[in-house]
Amino acid sequence: TDFYAVIGNPIAHSKSPLIHAEFSRQTGQDIRYEAILAPVDAFPATVSSFRARGGKGANVTVPFKLEAHKISTRLTERAQAAQAVNTLVFEPGGIAGDNTDGAGLVRDIRANLKFLIKARRVLLMGAGGAARGVILPLLEHKPQVLAIANRTKQKACELQQLFSRYGNGNIVSAAYADLAGEKFDLVINATSASLRGELPALPAGIFADGSLAYDMMYSDGLTPFLQYAKQQGAARLADGIGMLVEQAAESFLLWRGIRPETAPVIEMLGSCTT
Ligand code: ATR
Repeated sequence: TDFYAVIGNPIAHSKSPLIHAEFSRQTGQDIRYEAILAPVDAFPATVSSFRARGGKGANVTVPFKLEAHKISTRLTERAQAAQAVNTLVFEPGGIAGDNTDGAGLVRDIRANLKFLIKARRVLLMGAGGAARGVILPLLEHKPQVLAIANRTKQKACELQQLFSRYGNGNIVSAAYADLAGEKFDLVINATSASLRGELPALPAGIFADGSLAYDMMYSDGLTPFLQYAKQQGAARLADGIGMLVEQAAESFLLWRGIRPETAPVIEMLGSCTT
């Protein structure tokens, strides 16, 4: 049996152990996956002791993704671009750090929701770690425009500059009010506003015909953003359960060299998708 874990604080409500248990059952891979609560000031020590107990790799969640980036001795390009790590692979000489969040989001949008990003107008709301991690994978699919909007416009502007060399001039940054009169085919909420039952101050009328509203967060029932999107006439709604399962599958693939089926696991977790 090989050991893996998700490390975070808090961690009690993480769905990752359940997801990886399903993957392991489905693929016949002999792994055990646990949830580990790390004290906020002892992430590196928690990783070391897990490794000393025989851990082969770990997922990292809030609030340790930046620290995981710091302790990695080798980074993938997407982890470097995200400046955050959600997947550690323990290697003989060190620790490889990767970030599967963006790939998970894009795979959910394309493969599960069958939504084509290419040549579409995409709006990404938020400019924190969650937003930063998905920009490169979104750009890989050549949207017509990727607008990054944030309450604090300066932070959106910094991300625009940081990623401009990947974007062929099609990245723009904005405050929410700047978006009045514009329409988008895909609107992604990467802010933490939902956590407090809040909503970014989007102007009315930004959902184009046939648009998909995607909230990277999830909750029982529709998140405040998805409720708003529905009222505003978004054609399709999706919460972050699909992304959660897809990023887990991408990590499992890194560790085990085999990609598990995600559809039955998304179904089991009860994603809010229409
Ligand atoms: P994370 O790593 O989850 O992205 P973060 O770095 O704290 O967390 O970033 C939170 C993001 O949510 C930011 O883009 C933040 O906007 P500001 O940069 O202006 O603070 C956004 N956010 C949080 N609460 C919000 C709200 N009520 N309305 C709009 N944006 C909000």
